[in-house]
Amino acid sequence: MSGGVEPVVLVVDDTQASRYVTSCALRQAGFQVREAATGTEALAQAKTDRPEAVILDANLPDISGVQVCRQIKADPETASIAVLHVSAACAAVPAAGAEGGADAYLVAPVDHTALTAILKALLRAREAEEKAQSMACDWEATFNSVHDAVALVDAGGKIRRCNEKFKLIFGEAAGVLPGRHYQDIVPACQQNPLTRALRTKAHETSRQLIRDRWFRASAHPIAGGNGITGAVWILCDITDLRHAEELRHRDERLGALTAALITAQEEERRRLSRELHDSLNQKLCMLAVGVEQLEQELPDSAAAIRKELQSLRRRAEEISDDVRRTAYQLHPSILEHLGLGVALRSYCEEVQKRTGIKIRFRQRGLPDSIPQDVALCFYRVAQEAIQNAAKHSGAQMIVISLRSAGGSLRLTVADSGKGFDPGDKSRQGLGLISMAERVRLVNGALVVKTGPGEGARIDLRVSLQRI
Ligand SMILES: Nc1ncnc2c1ncn2[C@@H]1O[C@H](COP(=O)(O)OP(=O)(O)O)[C@@H](O)[C@H]1O
Ligand SMILES: [Mg+2]
Repeated sequence: MSGGVEPVVLVVDDTQASRYVTSCALRQAGFQVREAATGTEALAQAKTDRPEAVILDANLPDISGVQVCRQIKADPETASIAVLHVSAACAAVPAAGAEGGADAYLVAPVDHTALTAILKALLRAREAEEKAQSMACDWEATFNSVHDAVALVDAGGKIRRCNEKFKLIFGEAAGVLPGRHYQDIVPACQQNPLTRALRTKAHETSRQLIRDRWFRASAHPIAGGNGITGAVWILCDITDLRHAEELRHRDERLGALTAALITAQEEERRRLSRELHDSLNQKLCMLAVGVEQLEQELPDSAAAIRKELQSLRRRAEEISDDVRRTAYQLHPSILEHLGLGVALRSYCEEVQKRTGIKIRFRQRGLPDSIPQDVALCFYRVAQEAIQNAAKHSGAQMIVISLRSAGGSLRLTVADSGKGFDPGDKSRQGLGLISMAERVRLVNGALVVKTGPGEGARIDLRVSLQRI
């Protein structure tokens, strides 16, 4: 018998001889036996010994066997004990035994082979029932712990069972859910996979808007002996997921827009720079040359006019220098012709001359060729970082390092000035934002290390593998 432990049986009989014979037969059949001679004793032992089964004589001196059986079955602690009712041949016994809730009955004199066979069958049945009950508990717990709303519907669309999540979502409006038709909750329509599954008898799934929330709904038909007996209906709430998806799409569109804006801005700067350099600057140069010629052709007597012309020529040359510098700032053509290292060094020299701040520029181990978009990104980030250090930090020195290391191209711009709080959202300006956008476009990584009183350090890194 189960688990190798001998099952305990309580034999209740006021006739000592028949109790003895029954007990011997049961011990031989592999049971542990307890004995009781009265109803009161039987009830007490049922509680203390917790036998698997009780063999109960109908006629006891104190309480009738039927009463004893009824009390055993009424007490939740002893209700699961199998009771086998035994009585002398009398027409009323089966009815009385059944009335008391006995699991089986036998008429005395009892055939012991039949008795042990019935007992074993009863215990097997009880074991199977316990297993079924435990499985039902497991199933119920699993069903209710599922995060999605799940309902079982019959072939006609009526809800047979539903889990806690389902009740939570639909319970209030739909009242007592089991027994209701699914159309009371969600209208039958082509979008509803349950409607389709009950018709096509195949697994169906789709996204559905139900009561202002989005669900991924699916219906799985349940196959029975004679075709489809119903379906499992699962509703997974994807409202938050949809919001996140929408945000991601919006982010992607915004990113694409920023990329297009940065490219358009660079193209426009390049066009303007060329225009200033090639057209305006050429004309200014011609003007200066023309004035110089005039100057030389004047007779010595016109000294005053010559002085005036010299001053005019100098101003034309100054304007020409300004135009060239502006053209250069707009788009450093030197970047394309002489490369990133030369362009940055020249920019540093120009800022040092203009501001008087000492700028130390170092470069090491640069690759022979750097793609234009990456070079422009490094140049613009350095330009913004140097401008920021010169404008905001109050530092008297800026250190710039451009190098390739560990398979990456790297740039550092550092100052030991007053620093700033990078988390402060009230800071105005587009410099840092556009830096980050430019770096994102070349799949690089930008780190801004700073804090009030800590100086500022901008680190840019782009993998050379993508180059
Ligand atoms: N190197 C720096 N030292 C001190 N403060 C800085 C530095 N770089 C940036 N900041 C601070 O961050 C702010 C935002 O910079 P940025 O986005 O480039 O805009 P803008 O330079 O136009 O003000 C600056 O106004 C300044 O307060
Ligand atoms: Mg700035």
